[in-house]
Amino acid sequence: MKNIISINQSINGFKKNVITVDGDKSLSIRFILLSSLSTGKCIATNLLKSADVISAISNIKKLGINIRLKDKSCEVTGKGLNGYKFSNNLILNAGNSGTTARLICSVLINSTKWIKITGDQSLKRRDMQRIIKPLKLFGVKFKNNNKTLPISLMGTKFVKPVKFIEKLGSAQVKSAVMIAALKTKGKTKLKCLPSRDHTELMFKNVLKIPINISKKKNYDTIEIDGLKKFKPFNYNIPGDISSASFFIVLTLLTNKSSLKIKNVNINPTRTGIINVLNMMGSKVKFLNKRHYKGEKISDIYIKANKNLKGINLNPKLNSATIDEFLLIFLIASICKGVSTFKNLGELNKKESKRLDWGIKILRMMNIKVKKINNDGLKIWGQPNLKLKKNFVIKDYLKDHRIFMMSTIAALSLGGNWRIHNSDCFKTSFPRFLKILKTLGAKIN
Ligand code: S3P
Repeated sequence: MKNIISINQSINGFKKNVITVDGDKSLSIRFILLSSLSTGKCIATNLLKSADVISAISNIKKLGINIRLKDKSCEVTGKGLNGYKFSNNLILNAGNSGTTARLICSVLINSTKWIKITGDQSLKRRDMQRIIKPLKLFGVKFKNNNKTLPISLMGTKFVKPVKFIEKLGSAQVKSAVMIAALKTKGKTKLKCLPSRDHTELMFKNVLKIPINISKKKNYDTIEIDGLKKFKPFNYNIPGDISSASFFIVLTLLTNKSSLKIKNVNINPTRTGIINVLNMMGSKVKFLNKRHYKGEKISDIYIKANKNLKGINLNPKLNSATIDEFLLIFLIASICKGVSTFKNLGELNKKESKRLDWGIKILRMMNIKVKKINNDGLKIWGQPNLKLKKNFVIKDYLKDHRIFMMSTIAALSLGGNWRIHNSDCFKTSFPRFLKILKTLGAKIN
């Protein structure tokens, strides 16, 4: 049937396979936005060509920037910090991409025309207040008091540097402030809870922007000197650990399997899932570690291992694991013992209510789950779990990670699954189903 996949057969063991996954989504979107502000032609190789990145590209093009997407590369001709050209009341649509919606507001702070930003059904329910607040400090005007999309904003020629405390541990908020700071004269000072640090690494190692970072026990401080032009740059985007994670979990859960995933970004602010899995006993390994423009890259080696034990996760690891919790919940459901996760309120603010969806899917699988304090979870694992029932996954706001997690559950734990919205994995990982098929997955 249209737009639904069915999986009625677990995947057979696979061995000696070597795969790559698609390029990193966070880095791809940052490349598009930051290159548009450089002073010339920037080239990215291995850019992720997913719906979220295409949203970033088409919106930056609407601001008058020339972008050529080729087979193997992407060329963006930047026009400097003040180079966008567009007409009043332009409408941008960020589709499903929270990163695009939030970061694009920051590149507009010195544009003196009204611009409206909207998105799809899922994005329209996500909080924009988190970036509206700091951007107002820079001098940006917002037309009404909307806290969610659509929002209309107008920048100013008189942007000023700000002092801001970021309390959510959100990399999108931190990055929005950092990028806005590029357009102001003077020093922006930011105090923030730790979150993924790709923007800091790009500023420092790629754009060579004067930036001071000091890491304290519970927070980081960042100081940025604005109005520093930066030259065009090239970037070879490594594989996305969030995409690799689906294959890591599939391999762990599929008897007699092993897999090498080449060229993955293992930035420590992103590898929470590997720490969690290894604390559970999985023995996932990094091979051939290297550095690239401040990022850490490696191949990842995984061997089937269902002999895992539950954990009580320290919430300090939440940020580095934030996009992988659905997979962690799946793994916890076959662990020996109970697993506990806390302070996961942000999960319900993603593309769908992922904490609630995790609970729902685990309960469908007859796993005992208890929600704690409205933002945490206890999962009682069943080490010999074999599913036999029928499962239907639908009405989940086309959340790509719910689709992919359900697919991995179906292929590794059995049962007859029908998963709706079979296109939505293209939001972040267009080759997902193709790679599964090369490993022998039977998906109709
Ligand atoms: C992202 C940051 C994270 C993450 C999202 C991508 C980014 O969100 O969930 O998928 O590229 O900066 P937060 O802003 O909540 O950290």
